[in-house]
Amino acid sequence: MATILDGKKLAQTLQAEIAADVSRFVEKHKVRPGLAAVLVGDDQGSQVYVRNKRKACQQAGMDSWLHQLPVTTSQPELLALVAELNADPAVHGILVQLPLPRQIDEAAVVRAVSPLKDVDGFGPESLGLLTSGHPRFLPCTPLGVQQLLVRNGIDIEGRHVVIVGRSNIVGKPLALILMQKAPAANATVTVCHSRSRGLHEITRQGDIIVVAIGQARFLKANMIRPGAVVVDVGINRVDGKLIGDVDFDDVEAVASAITPVPGGVGPMTITMLLHNTLQAAQIHATTASA
Ligand SMILES: NC(=O)c1ccc[n+]([C@@H]2O[C@H](COP(=O)([O-])OP(=O)(O)OC[C@H]3O[C@@H](n4cnc5c(N)ncnc54)[C@H](OP(=O)(O)O)[C@@H]3O)[C@@H](O)[C@H]2O)c1
Repeated sequence: MATILDGKKLAQTLQAEIAADVSRFVEKHKVRPGLAAVLVGDDQGSQVYVRNKRKACQQAGMDSWLHQLPVTTSQPELLALVAELNADPAVHGILVQLPLPRQIDEAAVVRAVSPLKDVDGFGPESLGLLTSGHPRFLPCTPLGVQQLLVRNGIDIEGRHVVIVGRSNIVGKPLALILMQKAPAANATVTVCHSRSRGLHEITRQGDIIVVAIGQARFLKANMIRPGAVVVDVGINRVDGKLIGDVDFDDVEAVASAITPVPGGVGPMTITMLLHNTLQAAQIHATTASA
C-alpha cells in the first residue's frame, strides 16, 4: 500500500506558517499584503476558484479585493483595470482568473500584469527568470507539486522525474523548477505529451511520475515501476465526482507514495498563491525602503 501524500493537511500546516509570516510582516511594515483578483464573466468553476483563493488570503491575514467584470468586457477595458491595479501601492499581487472570454487575448493580459505583481508566475519575465536560473515568482501548481514532495521527505535530487503534460501552467514550468541547479531540485526530467511515442516505456523509467493531462484515470499500474512516487495534478469531473488523471485504486497497489484527488495537489496550489503574494509584498517593502 502506498503512502498517501495528503495535500489538504500539508496545505493547512503551510497556511498556518504563512499566516505567522504575514503577522510578522504587518508588525514590521505596518502594511497588509494584498491580492487583487479579477474575474471576467460568470463561469461557475472560476467563481469557486476565486472565492476559495480570496477566503484563504483573508484567513492568512492578507487583504483581498475582487474585481468582477461582465462577460462582455472588452480587452481595452480589462487592460485599463490591470493598469490601475499595477499602479495601486496597496495591491501587491494581481490574479487574473483564466480562462478569459473569447474576445480577449489572454497572452496580452498576462503580459500586462506588472512583473513585480505577477503572483501567478505566468508572465514572460517570471518565466524568463525561472528559465535562466534566477526564479522570482514560480507558477502556483508546479511549486505546490515541488513542496508536496519536499515536505513529505521525498528526495528529488538526481532522480528521474517523468512529467506527462507540457502545458504552460503545469508541465513546462514544473520541468524547469525540478531541473534547477538548486536544493529541492537537481532532478533528471523527461517531459511527455500527446505526441510522445512509447509513453508506457518512458513512464516506467520514472522514480517520480507527475501526470497533468486532463484525462480521468489515464495512468495505470502497468505504466509505472514498483515503488515509484505518483503525483496526480488532474481534475476531471465524472458523474459529478472529481477524478484525477491517475487510476488511484490500480496505481496505489504498486506506487510507494501517491496523491489523492481531491485533497492532493489542489489545496497546495492555493497555498502557493498565498506564498507568492507575501513574497510580492516583501519585494515591494524592500524596494520601497531602498
Ligand atoms: N490541481 C490543480 O491545482 C490544477 C491546476 C491546473 C490544472 N489542473 C488540472 O490538470 C490537468 C491538466 O491541466 P493543464 O491546464 O496542464 O492541461 P492542458 O493545457 O489541457 O494540457 C494538457 C497536456 O497534456 C497532454 N496530453 C493530453 N492527452 C495526453 C495523452 N493521452 N498522453 C500524453 N499527453 C497528453 C497535452 O499534450 P499536447 O501538448 O501534445 O496537446 C498537453 O501537453 C487538468 O485536469 C486540469 O484541470 C489542476
